[in-house]
Amino acid sequence: MKEAKLHIEKDFEISHTDDRLFSSFLEHLGRAIYTGIYEPGHPEADEDGFRTDVLKLVRELHVDHVRYPGGNFLSGYDWKDGIGPKKDRPRRLDLAWKTIESNQFGIDEFYDWSRKAGTKIMASVNMGTGTPKDAGEMVEYCNFPGGTYWSDLRAKNGHKDPMNIHLWCIGNEMDGPWQICHLDADDYGKKAREAAKIMKWVDPSIEVVVCGSSSREMPTFPEWDRKVMEYTYEHADYLSMHRYYENQGNDLDFLASFVDMDSFIRTLAATADYVKAEKRGKKDFKFSFDEWNIWYQSKDEPHDWMEAPSILEDNYSLLDALVFSGLGMTLLNHADRIKIACLAQLVNVIAPISTQKGGIAIRQTIFYPFRYLSQYGRGTVLQPVVKTPKIETKHGETPLLYTTAVHGDDDTVTLFCLNIGDEEMKVDIDLASFGSLTMTEHLCMDGDDLNAKNTFDNPNRVVPREIAPVAGTFKTCSVLLPKQSWNMLRFKVEK
Ligand code: AHR
Repeated sequence: MKEAKLHIEKDFEISHTDDRLFSSFLEHLGRAIYTGIYEPGHPEADEDGFRTDVLKLVRELHVDHVRYPGGNFLSGYDWKDGIGPKKDRPRRLDLAWKTIESNQFGIDEFYDWSRKAGTKIMASVNMGTGTPKDAGEMVEYCNFPGGTYWSDLRAKNGHKDPMNIHLWCIGNEMDGPWQICHLDADDYGKKAREAAKIMKWVDPSIEVVVCGSSSREMPTFPEWDRKVMEYTYEHADYLSMHRYYENQGNDLDFLASFVDMDSFIRTLAATADYVKAEKRGKKDFKFSFDEWNIWYQSKDEPHDWMEAPSILEDNYSLLDALVFSGLGMTLLNHADRIKIACLAQLVNVIAPISTQKGGIAIRQTIFYPFRYLSQYGRGTVLQPVVKTPKIETKHGETPLLYTTAVHGDDDTVTLFCLNIGDEEMKVDIDLASFGSLTMTEHLCMDGDDLNAKNTFDNPNRVVPREIAPVAGTFKTCSVLLPKQSWNMLRFKVEK
């Protein structure tokens, strides 16, 4: 058995979490929208064609914002195709995913869906084929109170009151050569700056996110980020970060993915600090990690032009859920710099929720670590002092025990603990700075088959299990974490 020690000090605060850290993403891609959240005629569809079984699962995830409508799709999308009477909307080629877009769902439908889901909108504007003028017009359509062409058209289309969308992404992954009308950092930096100016002139209350590197493996990383922050320092609020992980064949390296994500964030924080110094500025550029997940990109298959094809529908294993939990914890451990994070994506496409066309909706394995992080990860993130065995992985020195500690506003303490080792681990926990505590819950995801998955035939094959909490009132305690396991330990501070 391995042994580790955790010392949690109440005053070692990293930051209070921003609710937007628990956000997600829906793109016009595959079956995310069509037969995902929107399926008129489905037995569980409501009067708007929204699947109520899916809405229920989205609410269970406590999702804050949902980024929409893309993604790579965004860079060829004209938002004006998706408004007005549905029968008049054009069917278009989507060049990003080689599919056919029916435009039966657009910003008005997404606004109605968001209200039912209890989520807020993180809208994105096209910086590929789109112009800063189109971007400003979309802000006018969504947010301007009335008495102008676009705001009156919104009222005519059923939304008299402004949508008040506060958060806007200016383009998507514009550093990537795969992007429709990809730009270099200088061209994108100038275009994004001008778009931000126009959008904020239309609605000065909005916040905007500019494109950072689409992964740390891009040859232009981190030069791209430096230049984009230099061009937009005075006008943008956040720089985006994207990162996906895939098992390359070594489970331990895969489990250690959080080390890579941590170093990606540190590098960009340093880059942002450099730009701040260069600008003699006061503002710390903050980050929007608006795409993160596991994605078996190498297994994606080519397909013909189709409407809503089943693409990027990864079926996640227990191992994927463990890796995923480490990524989510890393985001919280950087809550001082990362203010927004979007699990990419939400339904069917690399997602925690999967649907059958005309059938049921299920929770994938990754649903659970997100659900509990989102429910109990809100509060003040603390910097734990950790003594843990370490190993070498392809990402460098890697702790076997990875932890996130959150002091809830309701005077609870929640510890998320990932044991990536192949042995059980005894962890001594010192919580004395809180006074006396009781332990209310120990949830765990583990199992002998790391490849186990939830399927439509067996949707509850991988679910968290309860372990008996430590009894009594205490200042310190010891817990056992099974080999290769995700754990959530919850404590209540006694008065
Ligand atoms: O989320 C899937 C795709 O990943 C998005 O469309 C794109 O932004 C990223 O490359």
